[in-house]
Amino acid sequence: MSIKQALLRLKPLQYYFKGRLVLNDITHLAVQKQSREEIAKTTARSQVINYLLSRVSGETTYLEIGVRDPSKNFDRIKASKKYSVDPGIEFAPNPVDFPVTSDIFFEQLDKGLVLSPQTRFDVIFIDGLHLAEQVDKDIRNALRFVKDDGFIVLHDCNPPSEWHARETHNYRESPAGNFWNGTTWKAFVKWRCEPSIFSCCIDSDWGVGVISKTRNIGLHLQEGNEFFEFSHFAQHRSKQLNLGSFEDFKRNLESAIK
Ligand SMILES: C[S@@+](CC[C@H](N)C(=O)[O-])C[C@H]1O[C@@H](n2cnc3c(N)ncnc32)[C@H](O)[C@@H]1O
Repeated sequence: MSIKQALLRLKPLQYYFKGRLVLNDITHLAVQKQSREEIAKTTARSQVINYLLSRVSGETTYLEIGVRDPSKNFDRIKASKKYSVDPGIEFAPNPVDFPVTSDIFFEQLDKGLVLSPQTRFDVIFIDGLHLAEQVDKDIRNALRFVKDDGFIVLHDCNPPSEWHARETHNYRESPAGNFWNGTTWKAFVKWRCEPSIFSCCIDSDWGVGVISKTRNIGLHLQEGNEFFEFSHFAQHRSKQLNLGSFEDFKRNLESAIK
């Protein structure tokens, strides 16, 4: 056995060489760059939500699904009435109005056990469990409780890579590290194919999706993504999401209303 072979049997050296290989892998480095580029984008979800609320004359009612630490978004929202829903999985203090899952909240709202079943929101922000099946349900329920001229806003619709879009939140050794957008994009793309609603996505803060029942902020998608393949999504990202800047969004909305 050569000295080199003998040295390579030592665990610390194996970790060093394997670790060096992984961390210098070109995919790993490219995904880390994508995370840095996304973080550098400046429009925040709270700006988009506050802009939509600021356009309403009179009292405004806001609902946030999935709150975690309210200082990051909920506390920044300017609305006359604000309601929050979160079962408290990620933030122990969980200072919300309704400490339950979104499914339970909507069921209770239907039955008049919380608020009133006549309640309609100007903006509903969906940012709870980031798995497609749950986001799909949240969109379906939100469509029933948002005002006709109101908006549904969704966080994390534009994952830069399949590592950001992994299903398993807790796996942090991927090239995306702790960043996680989950599979929200699949639910958003599914609803982008629905002809009875309008939708688009603002290219900042990991993709801020917006859905409207009556305002033409973007026509529906003709060609979906039958198998929800990430590679297809990445290649046609701009069209799949109807991706644009916050400035474009504001301009489109103003002209949709004229
Ligand atoms: C990404 S964090 C929310 C971040 C917050 N909206 C913001 O803008 O900073 C996701 C939150 O969703 C909550 N959550 C998980 N499953 C949920 C569910 N089924 N219904 C509602 N919230 C859920 C978690 O407890 C967590 O606090």
